[in-house]
Amino acid sequence: MSATVSNDIAHRAAVLREKLDEASHRYHVLDAPTIPDAEYDALMRELEALEAAHPELVTSDSPTQRVGAAPSSEFAEVRHDIPMLSLANAFNDEEIAEFVRRIRTRLGGDDGRPLTFSVEPKFDGLAISLRYEKGRFVRGATRGDGESGEDVTANLRTIKQIPLKLHGKDWPAVLEVRGEVYMPRAGFEKYNELARNSGGKIKLLINPRNAAAGSLRQLDPRITAKRPLAFYAYAVGVVEGGTLPPTHAQTLHRLRDWGFPLSKLVSTAEGESGCLAYYRRIGAQRDALPFDIDGVVYKLDDLALQRELGFVGRTPRWAIAHKFPAQEQTTTVEAIDINIGRTGAATPTARLKPVFVGGVTVTNATLHNADQVARLDVRIGDTVIVRRAGDVIPEVVSVVADAQHAARPPWAMPATCPVCGSEIVREEGEAVARCTGGLSCAAQVQQAIFHFASRRAIDIDGLGERYIEDLTELGYVQSVADLYKLTLDDLLEMKRRADERDGTTPETVKSGKVATKWAENVIAAIDRSRGTTLERFLYALGISDVGETTAKALARWFGSLDSLMAADVDALQTVPDVGPIVAAHVARFFAQPHNRDVIAELRARGVAWTEHEPQRTIDGPLAGKTAVLTGALGALTREEARARLEALGAKVAGSVSKKTSFVVAGAEAGSKLDKANELGVEVWDEARLLEFLKIHEV
Ligand code: IVH
Repeated sequence: MSATVSNDIAHRAAVLREKLDEASHRYHVLDAPTIPDAEYDALMRELEALEAAHPELVTSDSPTQRVGAAPSSEFAEVRHDIPMLSLANAFNDEEIAEFVRRIRTRLGGDDGRPLTFSVEPKFDGLAISLRYEKGRFVRGATRGDGESGEDVTANLRTIKQIPLKLHGKDWPAVLEVRGEVYMPRAGFEKYNELARNSGGKIKLLINPRNAAAGSLRQLDPRITAKRPLAFYAYAVGVVEGGTLPPTHAQTLHRLRDWGFPLSKLVSTAEGESGCLAYYRRIGAQRDALPFDIDGVVYKLDDLALQRELGFVGRTPRWAIAHKFPAQEQTTTVEAIDINIGRTGAATPTARLKPVFVGGVTVTNATLHNADQVARLDVRIGDTVIVRRAGDVIPEVVSVVADAQHAARPPWAMPATCPVCGSEIVREEGEAVARCTGGLSCAAQVQQAIFHFASRRAIDIDGLGERYIEDLTELGYVQSVADLYKLTLDDLLEMKRRADERDGTTPETVKSGKVATKWAENVIAAIDRSRGTTLERFLYALGISDVGETTAKALARWFGSLDSLMAADVDALQTVPDVGPIVAAHVARFFAQPHNRDVIAELRARGVAWTEHEPQRTIDGPLAGKTAVLTGALGALTREEARARLEALGAKVAGSVSKKTSFVVAGAEAGSKLDKANELGVEVWDEARLLEFLKIHEV
């Protein structure tokens, strides 16, 4: 290879690094993305390929090297040249007044000019130190005991908001930046949602603060890289070979210019009153913030004055944390109730001895699902830690061990719905248990009626959400079948009562006429909806996972409601588009006496459709074939591949058996491919699939 070629390559790698760095900074730090994700990914792949071909081009600050290091067995100790101290806490206004008075006295009394403070959120994560030498990130450490912490450089490198290389210019030769690593609420909630549905494989994170600390203490940086961590800078430590501005606020802005995230909530305030106003302003926003904060911090802004004041013990005299009410408290569980959601999801809920947490009195906290109760092992009578952060529903975080816990009976999901008495079931592979009452369960009925009446279902024009609420709340309708009992007088009376209840102006003659017209229209629409089709009717029933396409497939396949209702899970699974989960939902739905009653009543009240012979032939070149998809396809998503195979008549199944006609195996196909080989099932690669689609699709 000639020198010019390799120079070109080196140049290209440098350009790519620059572009990726800039894009990442704009996305993660400035919150103002400039290039689409796909373009970023493409550039990253190009750089990875270049570096793979020319390992000598790899630099430690290359964006490809964020998750570089191999797992280690322990963290090295790092001594902090300047100790990482902590802040004194204040819990009320008087303590803040005292703090400001003390500063004034020490600085030689009141000169009439207000003191300026840098005012900042107190981020609820963990403090870390980042060392940059000649602009490059060389070492990151936890605070530890303040004198020495742990070297977590490899983990910190995975946090995209931490620059591997300083931006701009004029940075000191050695710069230590301090700040907080935290986990944003959305990332925390998303991660735990995943954990709750993982059947115990992924461990739940207790709260964002523990999550951040735990994530940084992983020995394998690949694990840290998967955790949604973020960073805010709030101070500097060691500075050599350069100077910084004379105030703290200016210093923070300088850090921002060098590529560090600075919270938009950081500001300055004058005197005690300015600080307190800031406290109230941030307090009012606290619930809506994307991350947890446990207070605000006031720092005397003038660095020369800071030096003059110095420290007392391990805390600075020039700064203080003004705390908000705690977001976690302990209390006792008085009962565990079951809440039935609009879709039948049965959620265990802890009834608590009232406790003041996160600024409100909490009497209930969600336990999410039966797995979660089992994992936490919450029992009635236990003392628990309750957390209420942001506008997130209060939840039980953990049980506080006590001597009586073992003697209390473990909790189990009840077998029947507390609202309607129907069976509660949990399908295999699902985290959520559901009430099977469907159409007849009062907890689900509003949603069920709303869906039933919607345009693509039974289609009752003029019966909007508001009226459905009124009809159910005022007791006119308890199930979808009751809609067909409604009279004109019922509707008019309902409307009158709803108006009275809402304090709406009593009806004038004119609006009375309007009401009559509305009621007549609704009655006519209900009447019209009696003549429907089997597929609309099935869709209208609102069976879990039965959308329009599935409803249509079921209607075609069975032809009549009675033969569908008689079908067992195996028979249901022969229908194209119906897998084991949907089949189980359908069978379960029709097995419930309540649902059968409502259906019988609907039919008795005139809801009808034309039935036909079963239509079990599927057209297309793959009719009668069963395909299984496995591995990653490059050109198509799984869903696209499935839809296109189905459009050609194939049934796409989830697992390989002797009945499988062929398996489409993408990259990194695993056990399904093994199974296919074992059973001698035909295997297609992606190219063959694409070729087949090309030839047969119209
Ligand atoms: S300044 C010498 N500013 O609070 C004071 N700390 O108890 C150095 N913290 O360990 C800290 N937000 O983890 C400072 N805006 C902020 C902060 C903050 C959160 C944490 C930090 C520190 C603890 C102090």
